[in-house]
Amino acid sequence: MGKAMPHGGGGAAPPRAPEGDGLETVAELAQLRARIAAWRRAGLRIGFVATMGALHEGHLSLVRKAHALADRVVVSIFLNPLQFAPSEDFASYPRDEAGDCAKLRAVGAHLVYLPSAEQMYPEGFATRVAVGGLSEGLCGRTRPQFFSGVATVVLKLFNQVRPDVSVFGEKDFQQLKVIERMVRDLDLDIEIVGAPIVRERDGLAMSSRNAYLSASERAIAPELYRTIRELAQEIAHGAAIDEAIGAGRKRLSALGFVVDYLEVRDSESLRPLTQLGSGEARVFVAATLGRTRLIDNVAIVRESQ
Ligand code: PAJ
Repeated sequence: MGKAMPHGGGGAAPPRAPEGDGLETVAELAQLRARIAAWRRAGLRIGFVATMGALHEGHLSLVRKAHALADRVVVSIFLNPLQFAPSEDFASYPRDEAGDCAKLRAVGAHLVYLPSAEQMYPEGFATRVAVGGLSEGLCGRTRPQFFSGVATVVLKLFNQVRPDVSVFGEKDFQQLKVIERMVRDLDLDIEIVGAPIVRERDGLAMSSRNAYLSASERAIAPELYRTIRELAQEIAHGAAIDEAIGAGRKRLSALGFVVDYLEVRDSESLRPLTQLGSGEARVFVAATLGRTRLIDNVAIVRESQ
């Protein structure tokens, strides 16, 4: 294990870690481990970003952040079957490996890890990681297997990459909290860093799934953010949460969204709130437009604070 790599000692040639435009592409776990072991021996700090590909500026912002926090940045691209229900879009999820690699090269990622499904889940794979509590509301209500699928693959990826720091987007705020909880509960020695939501000019949160939207749906889609932002402002100015939520639901339905949830929750515990407390609160929304499920969230910022 790990013997095949250069830099094995004796002070001969310096390590040939790829630099600049040297994005290394690795599919085999043994090869990944060897490369990372060599970086570790060289005292380098490893940053990691997990993705499912079809990369956009939101993903790339995480890579840039990881770059600022670590010496080497590993990005995984793995469309994880475990987190898709049979009725969901696993088969049609956008894929663009060549485009993804070009983007990763441009932002200076060092290694892209592209494991196969057979390698991640070989015959007989039977383990699931379940993070209780946090996984149960919001997206967990309509997608009951989703967060155990996410936690299972992220724990596997963490064990494979063994990063010092890993960056996750606030776009999937509940996912970020679930990962933070898992890391704390299982004593993983990994720093989890959240990164702000990257939006299109018109406010729509960037998402690989936005590619599913028709032109007319795309024109309506930014209303999701506009609605939760206005709701957050009204609540910050003292509006009753349940009334504001009721009005927001009506507005979204009138625009053609089928609302899965629209809720105000504590940003740390994700407990539902009927009135603001001392901690930070957020508005969370998931809604379907045509066949596309969109999620978004926004902090409630009180001016007096
Ligand atoms: P994916 O949807 O590809 O997202 C990968 C990472 O990019 C996540 O941390 C997500 O929150 C972040 N991200 C996506 N859109 C963003 C945006 N507009 N602004 C900021 N960050 C954004 O989330 C997953 O994949 C999977 O569940 C995964 C964690 C890879 C496990 O399979």
